[in-house]
Amino acid sequence: MTLTHQPDDQLAPAKGRADAGRLRLDRLTKTFPSKSSGVTAVDDVTLDVAPGEFITLLGPSGCGKTTTLRIVAGFETATSGHVLLDGAPIDHVPPQRRTMAMVFQSYALFPHLSVAENIAYGLKLRRHAHDDVRSAMQIALTSMNLVGLEHRAPHELSGGQQQRVALARALIMQPKVLLFDEPLSNLDAKLRGAMRAEIRRIQRRLGITSLYVTHDQDEAMSMSDRIVVMNKGRVEQVATPAEIYFRPATIFVADFIGRANFIEVAPEHVHDGTAVVNALGMRLTVPAHPAVDANHASAYLMMRPETISLRPAGDGGIGTVLRSTFHGHSVDYEVETISGTLHVTDAGPDPDGLLGVGTNVAVTVNPDRAYVLNGNA
Ligand SMILES: Nc1ncnc2c1ncn2[C@@H]1O[C@H](COP(=O)(O)OP(=O)(O)OP(=O)(O)O)[C@@H](O)[C@H]1O
Ligand SMILES: [Mg+2]
Repeated sequence: MTLTHQPDDQLAPAKGRADAGRLRLDRLTKTFPSKSSGVTAVDDVTLDVAPGEFITLLGPSGCGKTTTLRIVAGFETATSGHVLLDGAPIDHVPPQRRTMAMVFQSYALFPHLSVAENIAYGLKLRRHAHDDVRSAMQIALTSMNLVGLEHRAPHELSGGQQQRVALARALIMQPKVLLFDEPLSNLDAKLRGAMRAEIRRIQRRLGITSLYVTHDQDEAMSMSDRIVVMNKGRVEQVATPAEIYFRPATIFVADFIGRANFIEVAPEHVHDGTAVVNALGMRLTVPAHPAVDANHASAYLMMRPETISLRPAGDGGIGTVLRSTFHGHSVDYEVETISGTLHVTDAGPDPDGLLGVGTNVAVTVNPDRAYVLNGNA
């Protein structure tokens, strides 16, 4: 049998959109006891996830992503705070009654059950009629591109196929909320890319509210409606991928997502969301974070490497090329300036215009793509 993709309208219940859950995390805190003092894994996290929205928790290892997800799923009890589904607290509802499904990094398939038995497991547990299970199974197998594999054992599948079984097993339950904990980390880069698109396509089609955990910023950027950046158990920012990238709320966010240059500045004329700053010999009017004011002791001009341009300047430049790394599609430069080392990416390099080490350069910055934000002080 050939494994062809079915059109989207053959996926499981398209009416799912109406059933999508509205999820609220209300001041969740989780402290694990330890010998000396407690470890606060989740620290006062509040978040609203709209029905059908795809939200990603992103942050470095140990920042509390999995713990947050486990509290939402009901596998962990919060020390304080509440989880609400469609407005009702579910803190005391056991995991199997939360109308949520979770997909794990390890797939967590039952090794002794076939693909079909794995997928049908949850529905059978809920004593659904045999025929209902069969038809739901066919839809799940088809939508996840698993037709022909239903009698195999999990160990006879590739990693990508196993993850599709895990996803089919979750989807067949028609959950109000789908929870994902690094579901793609065990796959190779190419398959990971394909599965990202696959998960997003199905999630959009079914309109299932989704909370997705990853420490991979590229994954978060490319999949999410909004991203929650976490650091040491706390939420640093909740915003769209573009806002997170171009308008980071904190230095931590700017630094964690992509690469960023920071130059300390004294903002002047802070007005209507912009600030005037002097940097690298230029006077720039730049969008500014709402917390920035003209009296703040430490503010920073943030510039992404690809928003800075260089040109040879003879003796009149403000910096010297320290290093040049050619990637074909782009060139990365490190430029020494009086304000420190600038990282600059030329994303459309001119083959005859590459800048050698030691070249004196002038700098142009696109002020609309830069941002002024406060220091962490
Ligand atoms: N059962 C537990 N007992 C004690 N401490 C725990 C427990 N589970 C997690 N922690 C601690 O809580 C913090 C957050 O852990 P968590 O697993 O939520 O992080 P994470 O963001 O998912 O990290 P990773 O990206 O590595 O998966 C860590 O300091 C971790 O050591
Ligand atoms: Mg984790």
